[in-house]
Amino acid sequence: MSQGVPGVPPPKSVLDALSRTSSDPTTCGYVPNAGELSLRKAIADEMKFRYGDDADIMPEDIALTAGCNLAFFSVATTLADAGDEMIIPIPWYFNHEMTLTTLNIKPVILPTRPEDAFMPSPERCERLITPKTKAIVLVTPNNPTGAVYPPSLISAFADLARKYKIALVIDETYRDFITSGPPHHLFSSSAPVRHRLGLVCASPSFISHLNTALDSIQICAPRPPQRALAPLLPSLRTFIRETADAVAHRHTLFREVLPKRWCIASQGGYYAFVRHPFVGISASKVCQRLAEELGVVCLPAEFFGPKHNESVQQEPERWVRFSVANVNDEKVKLVCKRLAESETAFGWSIDPKA
Ligand SMILES: Cc1ncc(COP(=O)(O)O)c(C=O)c1O
Repeated sequence: MSQGVPGVPPPKSVLDALSRTSSDPTTCGYVPNAGELSLRKAIADEMKFRYGDDADIMPEDIALTAGCNLAFFSVATTLADAGDEMIIPIPWYFNHEMTLTTLNIKPVILPTRPEDAFMPSPERCERLITPKTKAIVLVTPNNPTGAVYPPSLISAFADLARKYKIALVIDETYRDFITSGPPHHLFSSSAPVRHRLGLVCASPSFISHLNTALDSIQICAPRPPQRALAPLLPSLRTFIRETADAVAHRHTLFREVLPKRWCIASQGGYYAFVRHPFVGISASKVCQRLAEELGVVCLPAEFFGPKHNESVQQEPERWVRFSVANVNDEKVKLVCKRLAESETAFGWSIDPKA
């Protein structure tokens, strides 16, 4: 339960369409940087379906990228120069931090707290804004915490960004796992299915600058999946909903069978963020022993934040990320049984408050 990889392949209609478009010689050439117009139109329609008919989204607002990491890279390089700053909540999605440091953009850390279910605070964020700040970067549903930010919180961040004339970048890679209505009421970025396709949704004026950046990064995203998906998107709604329901069911199961001393702070998208019960033991040590001795692979929170100075004495980080995306119900039960076994097998003291 370590990697956030989809456990279910796309439907047969997508795979069939992909094999047709991959062997079509007309998909060998370039398309404009922003991608096939037919797919950008179809995405704009799907976004209206997701965010509401009044959502003001046009094909001109959309640029297709080879995956969401590339979407973020191209957005970051379009928005900021070396030496500028972007505010990112921790725990962070480590590829965002890596992108920023690669581009010499300073990641400014906005801590989030378990007692707030890892929701970032707009008030604390405001105190971090400087003349060098170019953007606030949010991920919802979050990787690694699974926290799903409510529309009201996202609106508060949008107001803040507007007040300081900076960008609000929302990575919604896991958007389709929100089953409770529109994720928010803004224009935002999102991602369709696999085969290395992501997208950026922003104003046409931003997209034209982004196209310049994309030209030196990818020229255009691979064409076969763009052609294959364009006519299919509305027919995939049921598949998308069923996949979201299956993942939601697995979250419920995980909550039910997780041993009671392991505490969930937040859960959503692919992930659950769980505090292990061992006093004074770092999540890294726990994850290492779980992997080596009990065959359970999960990721410690230390992977999702800046490196701490080891000479400074601090309470060890006890949060662990579990992914429920690519396991079946039996695996979830087996993992939880092994977590229960670890409480005696590891011989470590258990937190009496757990
Ligand atoms: C928050 C977030 N953004 C982007 C990505 C990368 O997405 P893609 O595989 O489309 O590049 C991931 C993958 O784990 C992710 O968790």
